[in-house]
Amino acid sequence: MKNTIQDKAKLVNSVFSEVYNKYDLMNDVMSLGIHRIWKDKFIDWMNPTHNSSLIDVASGTGDIAKLFSLRGKNSPIITCIEPNEGMFNKGKKNLINFKNIKWIKSKAENLPVEDNIYDYYSISYGIRNVSDINKTLREAYRVLKPGGRFMCLEFSKIDNELLNFLYKNYSKFIPFLGKYIVGSSKPYEYLINSIDAFYDQEQLLELIAKNGFINVEFRNLSNGISAIHSGWKI
Ligand SMILES: C[S@@+](CC[C@H](N)C(=O)[O-])C[C@H]1O[C@@H](n2cnc3c(N)ncnc32)[C@H](O)[C@@H]1O
Repeated sequence: MKNTIQDKAKLVNSVFSEVYNKYDLMNDVMSLGIHRIWKDKFIDWMNPTHNSSLIDVASGTGDIAKLFSLRGKNSPIITCIEPNEGMFNKGKKNLINFKNIKWIKSKAENLPVEDNIYDYYSISYGIRNVSDINKTLREAYRVLKPGGRFMCLEFSKIDNELLNFLYKNYSKFIPFLGKYIVGSSKPYEYLINSIDAFYDQEQLLELIAKNGFINVEFRNLSNGISAIHSGWKI
């Protein structure tokens, strides 16, 4: 078990060390820009106010922290958590002008922050990559204030047969795109395999609820290509 966890952490770290420089470009190309619409919908459902605080975990290049900050007219206090050196540096640089956003190099499974301090916890396309999902969810619960909200955006399972067929075929082309743009197909083979192996909407909902959150619900985006899960700490 310990070995499996370490192996996954190593693999994921090597994946993001290879792609960090072209991560934003690849996201735009692969999704034809649609990831931006999904991220906007994610923030819409969060509906933060100017004095909401956020911990954004697996921040990558900082998209969610940036959108959340802009919605609150740059008043929200935001902490970004990102373990990968390349992604961390890229994200920090992208958001250099946001004085309300601080960055911590750390993992979702061990957040170096106090209990009960954030209004929102977000994890966008990160939960599939963590090595221990239950530990991650327990940490999310710990750092949220009572009344705080857990929000997760992740690839999920498509509820339409034709779209699923088209998507599966399109997915086979993604590693070639990776080879062309990033110079390596391996990270994108990992991406496709990890999406396939990940939980469906209901299974993820159950895991979130099992780790203490209440009123857990989800919304599909583009027929379940992605899904947003929301849960509350009481
Ligand atoms: C697909 S990117 C998502 C980045 C960003 N949140 C977005 O939506 O574009 C996944 C990120 O999760 C990070 N990550 C991997 N394992 C992690 C862990 N155990 N804890 C926190 N972040 C992790 C990776 O380094 C990478 O930056």
